[in-house]
Formats: sequence, structure tokens, C-alpha cells
Amino acid sequence: MEDWLGLKDRVIIVTGGNSGIGAAICDALRKAEAIVVSADISYTEETDTEVPCDVTKKDSVRHMIEHTVNRYGRIDGLVNNAGMTLPRMLADADNPGSPYEIDEAFFDRMVNLNMKGTYFCAQEAARVMIKQKRGVILNISSECGKEGSHSQSIYSGTKAAIESFARSWAKELGGYGIRVLAVAPGPMEATGVWTDAYRDSLSYCRHVTMDDVRKGYKSSTLLHREGKLTEVADTVAFLLSDRASYITGTTVNVSGGKSRG
Ligand SMILES: NC(=O)c1ccc[n+]([C@@H]2O[C@H](COP(=O)([O-])OP(=O)(O)OC[C@H]3O[C@@H](n4cnc5c(N)ncnc54)[C@H](O)[C@@H]3O)[C@@H](O)[C@H]2O)c1
Repeated sequence: MEDWLGLKDRVIIVTGGNSGIGAAICDALRKAEAIVVSADISYTEETDTEVPCDVTKKDSVRHMIEHTVNRYGRIDGLVNNAGMTLPRMLADADNPGSPYEIDEAFFDRMVNLNMKGTYFCAQEAARVMIKQKRGVILNISSECGKEGSHSQSIYSGTKAAIESFARSWAKELGGYGIRVLAVAPGPMEATGVWTDAYRDSLSYCRHVTMDDVRKGYKSSTLLHREGKLTEVADTVAFLLSDRASYITGTTVNVSGGKSRG
């Protein structure tokens, strides 16, 4: 399988590679013998982060891209995976103005990470890929970018936006041999996003517990289960490989058939 992909020695950057889906993508790529540059804001001696990077800061992104090119000479793939969500309501009917409503700081934080970070990384990588006349840029979206999601409107909006970015960038960059795609995971097994703050906020906004939500996944996906992180990672590895050489400008759903958030 790994040989079939032909990813050996391909230089691939994964943002947010320290946790959850990003870490699973790094694992899958390493198994395929790719050279993985994990770029994450959280950086310790124990983590696999090769280069600390805050994707919301242009200078930090430039440094990360320069580090990669200086060390490995090229960039074959970029996975824009760093992202976050936290449930927030547009208007809290029970308690107007409560901390569970979207405010401007929340909006900016979500848009900065999920949208602006994706744009910063893609732009710097595209400059390198245009010179190489090859490369793949892949944005990690979410199934809720298609249909919206209760108490996740800003998150859903940012994911719809980065799918649209992918379609537009594919049009701009296809002539340089660069493919641009999005992957939209559906309900997944636990990752770092399920913080206490996330659970608390979700229970308040939806009047349900995280356990109720997870039970709901069983009926809302056609396969009656949550997705495995490896199922997203394997799809990403395939799309980054030349086996997917005629796939661009589209979103691939890895959502067990779920389409409504
Ligand atoms: N977990 C799910 O169920 C799910 C479903 C659909 C889509 N997604 C998407 O998958 C991606 C990964 O989600 P996850 O659940 O694995 O999240 P996670 O919280 O487990 O991991 C996110 C990683 O991003 C890093 N990060 C945060 N801010 C950063 C910044 N400014 N610069 C660089 N790195 C930063 C974190 O340190 C962390 O390592 C996100 O884009 C998310 O929206 C997740």
C-alpha cells in the first residue's frame, strides 16, 4: 500500500501535526516514507513538531516555509490542517449576552486560525510550488462546512470558505501542475478539540451531553459509527500522491455518508 502511493521522500508539510487528525496524517505519511514537516504552535522536546509555527502569523509561516525549502530543497505537499472549533450561539434566547454567544473576539479567533492561517500557508507554499511546477495543497475542512451545524456557525462558515479557496486556487494554479483540494471529515473519534470548554459549551448550547452527541453520530452517518483518524489520514495520503494526479478543485468527504451537520 505504502509503495503503491509512491510518496517516498516527498516533502510534505502538515500544519497542526501534533494532535488528532494532523498527527494521524503525519503517521500515515511517515509510514509511506515521506519526509514530513510537522508545523504546530505547540512545541516541546517530546512532540514531533519539526518547526514551531503559528499559522495566523505571516512571519511565522514564512519562517516555516523557508526552513522547509532550506532543509529539503522543495515542497511537494502542504496540508492545511490546523484549525479549531468551540460551540457558540448566535443569540442565547435564555440568557441574552451570555458568554455562550458569539462575540467579535471569538469570531476573529476562529476566522484567523481556520481561514487566514490557511491562506497564509497556501500563499507561501504556492510561491515555491509555482517555481517547481508541481505540488499539492490540501485544506482540511469539515462536513459541517456543507450544511452548517447547530452552535457552530462561524466554524462551519470558515470551513465552507476554505473549500471555496481550494476550488478557486485549483483554477489559478492548475496550469503550473499544482493540484488543490479539500477533505471534509465527518464525526470523528476523540481528538484534542474535545476540551472541557468544548464539552461545557456544547452541553449549554445544544442542551445535550457529549455522550448524547456521540450516540447521535451512530444514526446520523450511513455507516452508524464515528470515523477513525486513520480513515482521514489514508484519504489525505492518497490525494497527496500521484495516484490522485487527475483529482483537483474538489472536496472529498470522509464522513461515513453524513451530509447534514
Ligand atoms: N475532530 C473532528 O471531529 C474534526 C471533524 C472535521 C474536521 N476537523 C478538522 O480537522 C482539523 C484538525 O482537528 P483535530 O480535531 O485533529 O484538532 P486538534 O485540536 O486535536 O489538533 C489541532 C492542532 O492544531 C494546532 N494548532 C492550533 N492553533 C495553531 C496555530 N495557530 N498554528 C499552528 N498550529 C496550531 C494545535 O496545537 C493542535 O496540535 C481541524 O481543521 C478541524 O477543524 C476535525
